[in-house]
Amino acid sequence: MEIIQSEQAYSSIYKRSIEDPEAFWADIASDFQWKKKWDNVLEWDFHKAETKWFLGGKMNITENCIDRHLPKRASQTAIIWESNDPHEASKHITYQELSDHVCRVGNMLKNQGVKKGDRVCIYMPMIPEVAYAILGCARIGAVHSVVFAGFSAGSLVDRINDSGCKVVLTSDGSYRGDKKIDLKVIVDDAMLKCPTVEKTIVYQRTLNPVNMKPGRDLWWHEEMAKASTQCPAEVMDSEDLLFILYTSGSTGKPKGMVHTCGGYMVYTNYTFRTVFQYQEGQVFWCTADVGWVTGHSYILYGPLSAGATTVIFEGIPSYPDMGRFWHVAEKHRVNIFYTAPTAIRSLEKAPLSFVENYDLQEIKILGSVGEPINEEAWHWYHEHIGRGQCPIVDTWWQTETGGIMISPIANVTKLKPAFATLPLPGVQPAVMDENGNELTENGVEGRLTIKFPWPAIARTIYGDHQRFKETYFSTFPGKYFTGDGCKRDEEGFYRITGRVDDIIIVSGHNMGTAEIESAIDEHSAVCESAVVGYPHDIKGQGVYAYVICYDKPHQEENLRKEIRDMVSKVIGPIAKPDKIQFVSGLPKTRSGKIMRRILRKVAEGETSNLGDTSTLTDPSVVDEIKNGAL
Ligand code: PRX
Repeated sequence: MEIIQSEQAYSSIYKRSIEDPEAFWADIASDFQWKKKWDNVLEWDFHKAETKWFLGGKMNITENCIDRHLPKRASQTAIIWESNDPHEASKHITYQELSDHVCRVGNMLKNQGVKKGDRVCIYMPMIPEVAYAILGCARIGAVHSVVFAGFSAGSLVDRINDSGCKVVLTSDGSYRGDKKIDLKVIVDDAMLKCPTVEKTIVYQRTLNPVNMKPGRDLWWHEEMAKASTQCPAEVMDSEDLLFILYTSGSTGKPKGMVHTCGGYMVYTNYTFRTVFQYQEGQVFWCTADVGWVTGHSYILYGPLSAGATTVIFEGIPSYPDMGRFWHVAEKHRVNIFYTAPTAIRSLEKAPLSFVENYDLQEIKILGSVGEPINEEAWHWYHEHIGRGQCPIVDTWWQTETGGIMISPIANVTKLKPAFATLPLPGVQPAVMDENGNELTENGVEGRLTIKFPWPAIARTIYGDHQRFKETYFSTFPGKYFTGDGCKRDEEGFYRITGRVDDIIIVSGHNMGTAEIESAIDEHSAVCESAVVGYPHDIKGQGVYAYVICYDKPHQEENLRKEIRDMVSKVIGPIAKPDKIQFVSGLPKTRSGKIMRRILRKVAEGETSNLGDTSTLTDPSVVDEIKNGAL
């Protein structure tokens, strides 16, 4: 595979990747270890929402992430683990040790009757075992479904039942800053409503007493002790399922995005090596949680398939103080640092001494992901973390895209603050106007679509191909619709402007407003609610809820707390509304549709200029909403 090393090379390789995508990707794919080469590079039909890559190819992603490195790197560190507690010793896990642990997990699962194609839910903290769990599933062809360990029992139930998981891998508890969370208690609660789960396997992390249900619950350490370190890699077809990962939808329940083995492996590896210009021996730290796609692709699969050393950090940026990221970066001599704008914005608010206390000379490349990065944060990151010398790769992509799509290439292509800049080779964006016409010129603004498949595109929504087709391929027939708005400037650089649907991005987490509304509505005092996003200094967007109660609330603050607790219980703490305004009605059109445009404007602090309100059934509610704005 040819690594892009100059701007000219980018242009010529990009051109080649568009003119002959199959030859381009076949060339990259030939770098991997295949048990049988593919027969056909690509088959696709975006009208049917179907894409297949490397058809007929046989492989196993764990052989590419582990086994093929062993001859050269058995004793190289694959994973550096840093605890939540700065006083607990960190761990260095070599590729050989990783191999042993992963094989053990594979055998442990097999001993419980897990077979190729079975779904396994992983609900664990950021400890090395979560990596063993994920790769252990992949080793035996079980489909992993990682659920972020900050989600509530209810969210866990939905995700487990939607994909019919047979086993749940979890831990007694987890640490997050100065908090201890009893994960097993949440799992126990969920298990009351998960009939497909036969076993839960529990890793001891916090040693808090837990309830072990005989016949169902097993201890991780006991089962691992019985499992051998030899586990042949299951032969997987390129298009066999590798994992399911849930992401919020603009309506109703979360969508189980399906990723398959071959294309995902090729794409995460290629993008990792290209975007970050990874060089042999470097330490890569992506601060995301493995519960999100960023963790899947750039803590595990991308870096490990490239033979890199990847950091897994259990804690949070503010514990024990606002210097923790920089402490960890110094301690482990991190070379490439990849985080989210929300983290940068919160750290930027802390005194600079928290940065200056540490030596960050080893950092060579910075990355950003998850939401638009504002210019101020970009400059602070560039100047104070990158010493004015390190490129920032602002990487735009999605759970659905599997890997990075639009991004600068570190030290190769030009940077432009707040711009994700250029499509990677093989990625063909198209900007559309609202009437469905492609805007082919530069200097345009519209909706971002992709008109040609790339290897890591999600293949479907688990169990609901129709929804997949409607959500992504029906707005602009023949094209994949991202749900994002964008600008393309005169130079052809892309700037992502944010979601154009009812999804909001809070601290980099994707959330459906409909899902939050239905959680609020579960409170017995609430009759109806409407949720919108509003600009938030640190989180990017905050959650603003307009709530109608059956009776006018007497103690508004108490009720606000109860509603927040309800959302936390139903979805998880990340979805808690920042602002709750009690109203007696919502602005609705005569057909009963809530005019969210008005709610958004008021939440943004705009009270004049609300546009045409003449089609509302009761325009007077608008005054009430404006007057009570928080
Ligand atoms: O709106 C875009 C935003 O995050 C959405 C995808 O969220 P999720 O599936 O959770 O994946 C996040 C990590 C890849 C996108 O539709 N987004 C992601 N990266 C950027 C971004 N917006 C602007 N700039 C980015 N670099």
